[in-house]
Amino acid sequence: MNTRYHDAAATSYDSKWGIDFGEIGQQQVASKLKRTLGGKLPMQPFGDALEIGAGTGYFSLNLASQGLIENLTATDISPGMLTSLESTAESLGLSVTTVVTEAETLPFEDESFDVVLGHAVLHHIPNLDRAFSEFFRVLRPGGTIVFCGEPSRYGDRLAAVPKRAGSFAAPAWRRAVGAKALTHSEEELADDEHSLEPEVDVHAFVPADLRAIPPRSGFVDTRVRGEELVANIWGWGMRSMESSATPESIPFGWRNFAYRSYIVFQKVDNHLLEPYLPAELFYNLLMCARKRP
Ligand SMILES: C[S@@+](CC[C@H](N)C(=O)[O-])C[C@H]1O[C@@H](n2cnc3c(N)ncnc32)[C@H](O)[C@@H]1O
Repeated sequence: MNTRYHDAAATSYDSKWGIDFGEIGQQQVASKLKRTLGGKLPMQPFGDALEIGAGTGYFSLNLASQGLIENLTATDISPGMLTSLESTAESLGLSVTTVVTEAETLPFEDESFDVVLGHAVLHHIPNLDRAFSEFFRVLRPGGTIVFCGEPSRYGDRLAAVPKRAGSFAAPAWRRAVGAKALTHSEEELADDEHSLEPEVDVHAFVPADLRAIPPRSGFVDTRVRGEELVANIWGWGMRSMESSATPESIPFGWRNFAYRSYIVFQKVDNHLLEPYLPAELFYNLLMCARKRP
């Protein structure tokens, strides 16, 4: 189901989720990495990095572009996503090895990577203990795992409020900005995609669940923190209104406003809320742990 869903999503994935491979995208992922690792970027770049569920490359290509990764192996269960990643890597002048595989059985030698990382992937993996045992096996002693962008259970519930409000306000919003409603068949296609989400999203975590997983496979120093609260509420409200209109009919001025305001709210979360509020409140969870040297 995950392969089918993500293969179908691959070509429109970057535009759907506003994925950027320039300065903004690089800043976002460096900031995620830094906050996950407890406030500091590593002194040295990661040597051999393995990304799980790399998708179109948002996390690892943006890290590699800044020299934070030396040798990148990007894996995914969806060949379509990796084809998209390869073409982006080529346009960025980055060299990357891609391997189609699922996370629970990795086709790599023991102790062959310095870091295993991923973004928005753990919630798709059915048997997390098997996957983490594989991460532990392929990681060198002293290596690190870093996973960001995992949906939190409470954050998911909170997001339902702006989603409903956005859908309710959508007709008035379309009239105000002059956007065109989706045709019936476009709406059906979007509904089809939406209806598969419960099938492909197999977990929404509370921080305690996520904290308990790595030690069961032998990892130490597990750390979990939250990310995005007001950006989540604002972003889902915007997305719900926008998804009711044909993309080309949404005026540039609105897109610019929506994107920039989201980035501002992300900064408010990063600097003012995340350091002080409990991880449970946030939409996404960030996690890291270590294999003993
Ligand atoms: C939400 S997307 C995230 C993609 C990318 N990491 C990003 O942040 O844009 C989840 C990715 O995980 C992949 N995936 C789902 N289940 C998987 C599994 N069991 N093993 C490996 N990859 C999986 C999907 O194909 C998809 O590309």
